[in-house]
Amino acid sequence: SIYNVGILVGSLRKESYNKKIAQFILEQEESKFGYRIIDISELPLYNQDVDDVGNPPPSYVRFRKEVASLDAVLFITAEYNRSIPAVLKNAIDVGSRPYGKNKWDGKPGAIISSSTGVYGGFGANHHLRQSLVFVNILTMQQPEAYLGSITTCIGPSGTIESQKTKDFLRSFKNAFEQWAERIIHTKGQD
Ligand code: FNR
Repeated sequence: SIYNVGILVGSLRKESYNKKIAQFILEQEESKFGYRIIDISELPLYNQDVDDVGNPPPSYVRFRKEVASLDAVLFITAEYNRSIPAVLKNAIDVGSRPYGKNKWDGKPGAIISSSTGVYGGFGANHHLRQSLVFVNILTMQQPEAYLGSITTCIGPSGTIESQKTKDFLRSFKNAFEQWAERIIHTKGQD
């Protein structure tokens, strides 16, 4: 692939539906975009005391290097209490520091939220957008992806079985890749 996309999954649960959506994306036909899941489970809760004395945990150093190497970022997240799970917010915070070395800056991004509830993680999706404005991830606005009642789309096999959901995710992925390419090319011109 020409472009590296990191997927950040906002759920640590082993049987996470959001992980299964990420898995579906990984299994799609090869394109110019190569996807991989970035592990955010090992990042200690952000503490500025440790970071600012220039002695960050090794997992922070690894994570920041990995984020820096990405051409684009795809967030696939659960909703906790109408917002994003703390583990995902923590990862965004870690990647944004130390001050002046925000690793997200200028990268194209997109968000898929899903939940067992009918609103499809709308609250998480939009709280996430708020933080992405500040760290300057250029987040695709349309199409939006709120996958509600996700248990009806994912069968006992643990894979996505709904044809409608599969078609939607494929078209979302295509739209994201067009969006990302546009942003990457624009950056190349300055
Ligand atoms: C939830 N869940 C949930 N669902 C929702 O639609 N809106 C919400 O605000 C919340 N809040 C919430 C808080 C906490 C602490 C938990 C553990 C769960 C339910 C959630 O959608 C469900 O557990 C999903 O299965 C989580 O996504 P994963 O882990 O399957 O990817």
